[in-house]
Amino acid sequence: TTVKFDSSALKQFVHDNELGEMQAMVNAANDELRNGTGAGADFRDWLHLPTEYDKDEFARIKAAAKKIQSDSDILVVIGIGGSYLGAQMAIDFLHNTFYQAQSAKDRKYPLVIFAGNSLSSTYVHDLLQLIGDKDFSVDVVSKSGTTTEPSIAFRIFKKKLIEKYGLKEANKRIYATTDKAKGALKTEADANGYESFVIPDGVGGRYSVLCPVGLLPIAASGADIDKLMEGAAQAEKDYVDPDLTKNEAYQYAAYRNILYRKGYETELLENYEPNMRMFAEWWKQLAGESEGKDQKGIYPSSANFTTDLHSLGQYIQEGRRFLMETVVKLDKPNFDVEIPSEDDNLDGLKYLEGKTMDFANTKAYEAVVAAHTAGGVPVMTVHIPEENEYTLGCLIYFFEVAMGISGYLNGINPFNQPGVEAYKTNMFGLLGKPGYEEVGKKLRAEMEK
Ligand code: PA5
Repeated sequence: TTVKFDSSALKQFVHDNELGEMQAMVNAANDELRNGTGAGADFRDWLHLPTEYDKDEFARIKAAAKKIQSDSDILVVIGIGGSYLGAQMAIDFLHNTFYQAQSAKDRKYPLVIFAGNSLSSTYVHDLLQLIGDKDFSVDVVSKSGTTTEPSIAFRIFKKKLIEKYGLKEANKRIYATTDKAKGALKTEADANGYESFVIPDGVGGRYSVLCPVGLLPIAASGADIDKLMEGAAQAEKDYVDPDLTKNEAYQYAAYRNILYRKGYETELLENYEPNMRMFAEWWKQLAGESEGKDQKGIYPSSANFTTDLHSLGQYIQEGRRFLMETVVKLDKPNFDVEIPSEDDNLDGLKYLEGKTMDFANTKAYEAVVAAHTAGGVPVMTVHIPEENEYTLGCLIYFFEVAMGISGYLNGINPFNQPGVEAYKTNMFGLLGKPGYEEVGKKLRAEMEK
């Protein structure tokens, strides 16, 4: 496998027999996942997305990406939750760290900027200012087609497109990624003739990065979506056997449940690469929405190292003992940097001359694993060989399949998200949305008390 799961640091936390003891439960979870005998069975189509996708639509995605590259300096991707996290983490993972800061002439591809994932007016104002009179297009992504945050943002950026290009040309610069048949966005896309892409019925938001939701923005950013799908397809094959001695994604699912049952209730996803911050945000949605329900579930959090060793590190080392850590460790950076020599040794760094920054980063990782283990924090590591599309495809699938198994091991439906509705009902009441008058009245009365 491309991704390597390493549980060797768990020795003092998990006895030798414990993984094997999970096999029967993993077999049952595997049956629920693969044969659809578990809750949420209608939302398992992501399992085969890397191989069973619509090839014509895939070609249309590439053509749309080319058009965007040829006529736009900026692509504004509007969506929230599963409708943007995968695309943003992939673009960060695959591109130059400062690609957003490069000038248009140094950049071969459009800037991809995300909007509609908050209700911040400052953010939208600043983005409108950044676009200024530059050429831009919009990819609006919403499975339901009715989510408030992206709907508001879409109105605003659509208005700017129409003002700049006129209605007819604006409609050609809008790409809609939504349900094949239902929702307000679908109705609008049909009425205005936007080029549309389909979010398959059986693919929930947090499992949607390998469908047009992620693929169009990733392709527009200049990354190779064929390689991304190839990596994921390899992982689809690699993680099919439920035997825990062979399937490392299932091992990860089993170990985190073993640890959870011992009281390690919060899992920190960690990296040693700033361009993987958004990867942790994507993972947090995948884990949190999949597992946090029925008043149980591992709480997913994250830390970015070595940065946060100078902040959260204190707590992790010596605070309350309920944390476990999963590091995604890049084994070989695409570019390493040598630590330069100096004649004198005023900074005391002579002992590192000729060594590279990645050498230091890796020693930091090894030191942290030892320190945290000694401090009572179990650490697991997911090694990736390098940062490219193929590896990312493998990594995405590794965590997706692990989360499906993990959710079933904990006896919940890993594919629904009933809890995200509660605030929406209240917000609609307070905003005065038709149909929510009673909720609004009740909430206002409570707030006035
Ligand atoms: O995972 C989910 O289902 C959610 O986070 C959704 O992705 C998010 O609420 C956006 O929904 P939609 O794509 O319908 O606008």
